[in-house]
Amino acid sequence: MFLSGQQLKQVFDKAKKERFGIIASNVVFDTQIRGLIQGYNSAGSDGLMQMSAGACKYAAGESEDIEVGARLISSMIQVFASQFPNSGVGLHIDHATPNYFDFIVYCIENKLVTSVMIDASHESLEENIRITKEVVDIAHKHDILVEGEIGRIKGTEDEIVSDVELYTKPEEALEYVMKTNVDLFAASVGTNHGVSKGENIVLRLDLVKEIDDLLIKNGVERGIVLHGASGLTDEQHHQAIKNGVVKINKDTHYQMDMAEAIQEYWEREKYAIVKPDDVSEADYIPNKGKFDPRKWLIHGENRMNETLQEFCRLTGSANKSILL
Ligand code: G3H
Ligand code: ZN
Repeated sequence: MFLSGQQLKQVFDKAKKERFGIIASNVVFDTQIRGLIQGYNSAGSDGLMQMSAGACKYAAGESEDIEVGARLISSMIQVFASQFPNSGVGLHIDHATPNYFDFIVYCIENKLVTSVMIDASHESLEENIRITKEVVDIAHKHDILVEGEIGRIKGTEDEIVSDVELYTKPEEALEYVMKTNVDLFAASVGTNHGVSKGENIVLRLDLVKEIDDLLIKNGVERGIVLHGASGLTDEQHHQAIKNGVVKINKDTHYQMDMAEAIQEYWEREKYAIVKPDDVSEADYIPNKGKFDPRKWLIHGENRMNETLQEFCRLTGSANKSILL
């Protein structure tokens, strides 16, 4: 089922209270959307799908009309999710910078999303607070949740690029949450966007705990968001959740899964489209039963489905849907 903002709030409140993590999965294509929504449903978990500005432009084709792309992705998710009454998925706008303010408002007013991220983390703290507050005021009128960020996450995520890592300062996090009233707070604690290995990063999960404790102490407890979570070890996931993380963002891992599963297929089935050297041109017949796109894309879809179910078991969200 496609979740309302209120329901998504319940999902995160439950996750925070019972200390499990909700996986937020970046998507562009129908193949990914099907694999992941079926995965959430099979795991008995709620979840979030995320679309970036770049994903929406891509989805629109040559026009790159971001609004068309968002409508397309949102309707695929809403229609597909309606088949599954026992697991809820929402749709989130990922890393929308202030340039995309009008786009955020468009998605909110047209009920395309359940939550949005305003990423003004490259601005000064004051400016970040001002812009985020503006988004929160509009979003909350429409029952839409808002995620905001301070600090800077290293790596590349779509149009968001940073060569440096700026760890979030707990006192700034408190000021930001109090002044903006965001629903979800993204902290920069050493994870990287893109290909990375958990063992090789300087992960400061102690900062998550410090921020969480400070917010609780000041009566503004929030779900904390971990970006760039693709390369993390199992233990890092567990510790992050224990320290206050409720939303765990994954993109790169699924991209690898999709590519790997399809590469394995074509390694096996190469001769369905490539003539073997020992067969003559006259005798070679390509195998339609193997090159029909449904035959190979399904391997990517199934792999993502399986990976997501593993993630849900790892983060403890399996069998915890608010709809069960
Ligand atoms: O916002 C999206 C995420 O932070 C994804 O990061 O590609 O490293 O998994 P990732
Ligand atoms: Zn991110």
